Amino acid sequence: MIRVAAVGDIHLGPDSAGTLRPAFDTLGDCADLLLLAGDLTRHGTREEARVVAEEVAGLPVPVVAVLGNHDYQSDQPDAVTRELVEGGVHVLEGAGVTFDIRGVTVGVAGTKGFGGGFAGRSATEFGEPEMKAFIRYSRACADGLGRSLRELDGSSVRVALTHFSPVPDTLAGEPPEIYPFLGSYLLAEAIDGAGADLAVHGHAHMGTEHGMTGGGVRVRNVAMPVIDRAFAVYHLSPPTG
Ligand SMILES: [Fe+2]
Ligand SMILES: [Fe+2]
Repeated sequence: MIRVAAVGDIHLGPDSAGTLRPAFDTLGDCADLLLLAGDLTRHGTREEARVVAEEVAGLPVPVVAVLGNHDYQSDQPDAVTRELVEGGVHVLEGAGVTFDIRGVTVGVAGTKGFGGGFAGRSATEFGEPEMKAFIRYSRACADGLGRSLRELDGSSVRVALTHFSPVPDTLAGEPPEIYPFLGSYLLAEAIDGAGADLAVHGHAHMGTEHGMTGGGVRVRNVAMPVIDRAFAVYHLSPPTG
């Protein structure tokens, strides 16, 4: 059994340094890896990113992250990424990483993802260049996720990690008017096309924890205000035989 701990939207800043560390220090007892589903900072500054890095540095389990929209706010996602990497965090954007956990290969593929909406109510690449650029960017994020999931094909267990949501199910509780800014069906298409055992996202603070893609992949919204604790733990069974 592989135990995946996950949380998103921790939105740390200098005044909240150390608040999650006591809970994270228990991870070795209950989880095999920790996934951070973006919005780790408030405004995407280096100073805030350093707080995040220190919060997870030296944990007894690997830490894998994607950035969220808040982590882009200061227009320096590369600097945010560098701070996290220096803290030992695997930061994914259209990429994957694998871990050997008690002889089981566990793969995590990640992208921040982006919006655009869901089937029947989604934006399309039509009209103004700005609209085309919006959807092209969303599609590029989803393509990166699908590609990196396929590259993890040899893993016994595969997890898709995003900030934006692949499905509307886990947005329940958010105003329907903002669903197109909370996720994109393109992410679910990528997940179902490549295959995964679990999809984890954040971003929708007022959403719902449990959902599922059309292809039957479990989706979990782990935004901290949703799970209402330092992290949730999901159990994944590797195939036997
Ligand atoms: Fe957030
Ligand atoms: Fe967000």
